[in-house]
Parts: sequence; structure tokens; C-alpha cells
Amino acid sequence: MSVRTAMGRMVSLQPGDAEWAMSKVIGRWRVFAVSIAGWWEALRDGQMLGCYFGADDIAEMQRIPREKRRLEWGAGRIAAKLALRQLHRDQDGGVAALNTIEIGNRKAGPHRGQPQSNCARHLSISHAGEWAVAVAGRSHVGVDVERIRSFGSAMRDMVLTAREREWIDAAEARETDLRTTLVWSFKESFMKAHGLGVFGHFRDIELTGMAANGRLAWSLSGSLESTLRRLATGTFEAIGERIGDYTLVVSGASDRGP
Ligand SMILES: CC(C)(COP(=O)(O)OP(=O)(O)OC[C@H]1O[C@@H](n2cnc3c(N)ncnc32)[C@H](O)[C@@H]1OP(=O)(O)O)[C@@H](O)C(=O)NCCC(=O)NCCS
Repeated sequence: MSVRTAMGRMVSLQPGDAEWAMSKVIGRWRVFAVSIAGWWEALRDGQMLGCYFGADDIAEMQRIPREKRRLEWGAGRIAAKLALRQLHRDQDGGVAALNTIEIGNRKAGPHRGQPQSNCARHLSISHAGEWAVAVAGRSHVGVDVERIRSFGSAMRDMVLTAREREWIDAAEARETDLRTTLVWSFKESFMKAHGLGVFGHFRDIELTGMAANGRLAWSLSGSLESTLRRLATGTFEAIGERIGDYTLVVSGASDRGP
């Protein structure tokens, strides 16, 4: 399947057939998507790799033993660098060389794994199937991409509340997997925006509605609400879309200014 088909209406960042990096505006965020196999095909020869990655990045990538994870890691970092550079351009008019943007993950504590950069911006990364996506913002932001799929009954029991099941069951049969995947994706993105994983919290966060423009509504259990209030302030919003074979959800807090 071509990358254009797989990511639907995303706009390619390259001319011609080499469509391995794409972007799309969703709500007030610009999402960058990088093809996990495609970036390596495009960059592995010649000087191009050094335009995107510094020497430390390349050394870190080479230490990742599994090829699948290495390519996924690289795609996520390219998407994140593109997102950070764009944010910098839009907000400060500045231009940062991609190979000087450093991206790491928190190594310990409750936010272990959360991506961070040397650009003093908020950042989120997700991968699924052929794609890695990233979003950067001035405030807390979380992104999740999922390939639309069936969920077995054990997963449905773990993830869905009774109200979410009603919303899913009210759809035509061909929409069931889409709605279930969207619920999952929303919960992941919302928790990531707070620097947390979703495990242990699936049923503390309930999707209560989706408008025609993709805007999502939700409610939180009292205990999760008080946990999250300590981590992020501001009014949160979330937008979900189907893009080709995937769901993409971005959740984030209102901008705080530079
Ligand atoms: C880690 C987690 C935040 C997201 O995991 P996921 O949905 O599997 O994976 P995604 O590809 O969407 O996201 C992975 C990215 O999340 C980011 N991430 C990791 N920990 C994070 C945290 N505490 N806060 C915010 N973002 C985080 C990282 O950038 C990571 O990518 P990277 O390692 O390449 O930098 C969390 O929800 C989790 O533990 N999920 C596990 C899902 C799983 O195991 N599913 C199997 C079926 S039961």
C-alpha cells in the first residue's frame, strides 16, 4: 500500500513519489507523520542522514538492537524534529537546523518515557503500523495514532465503559472497529498529554461524545481528575479523525503563550 493511500489526506512534504513525510492540521495542532520504512529508504545513503540527525542521535540509534524499533525510533524523532522546527518558525520566525534539535525520553519517575527536547516545547510521539507521528506545542499535548482494528472481548472489557459501548454499538457494523479504536486512541492521547501511560486508567476516562468536526467530549473519575489537575492546568481539548486506515487523536491544553 502506498504511503499516500495509508495516510489518506495528509499532505506530502516532498515533491514526486518520495512521500515519506507528511503533515496535516488537526484542530490547532499540526501533526507530522513519517513513514517508518520510507524514511530509511530515503535517507540511508549519502549526506541526508546528517541533515536530520546529529552524531549523538546516530550513535544512539545504532545501539538499538532490533531493526523494527530502530526504524520506528528514527521515524518518531524525525516527525518530532519537523514538528518542533515548524512550531519555532510559526511562533518565533526562527529556523532551527533539524540535526541540532535533541530529543530524549524521561528516564525515570512517573513520567518515564515521555519525550523531551532541547527546544523548551511540549512534544508527543506515537507509532502504529507504517507510521510515526508527532505534535509539538507550547502547552501540554498528546498524540496517538492507531491502526483501525478489532478488539477482542477481553480488551473491550478492560478499555470501555458502559456508555462507550452504547456509543459503539449504536454505529453501523462497519463503524464498530473505527469507534472502538477512536476511544482507545483518545484515552492514550489524553494521558500522554499529562505525561502518563493509560494503563490502570482506562475506565477513569470516558469518551462522552464526538462532534461532526471531530471534537471530543469526555468525563473523568474524581480520582483521575485530581491527579491530572496537579500535572497540567488550562482548558483541554481533543480532536479525533480517521485518516486512511488509522485513527489519529490529539489532546492538549490551551496555549499559555511563549
Ligand atoms: C507508553 C504509552 C504512553 C504509550 O504506548 P503505546 O500506545 O504503546 O505507543 P505509542 O507508539 O502510541 O507511543 C509511544 C511513545 O509514547 C511516548 N511516551 C512514552 N512514555 C510516555 C509518557 N509517560 N508520557 C507521554 N508520552 C510517553 C514516547 O515518545 C514513545 O515513543 P518513543 O519511545 O519512540 O519516544 C503507554 O500508554 C503505554 O504503556 N502503552 C502500552 C500499550 C500496550 O502495551 N499495548 C498493548 C496492548 S495491551
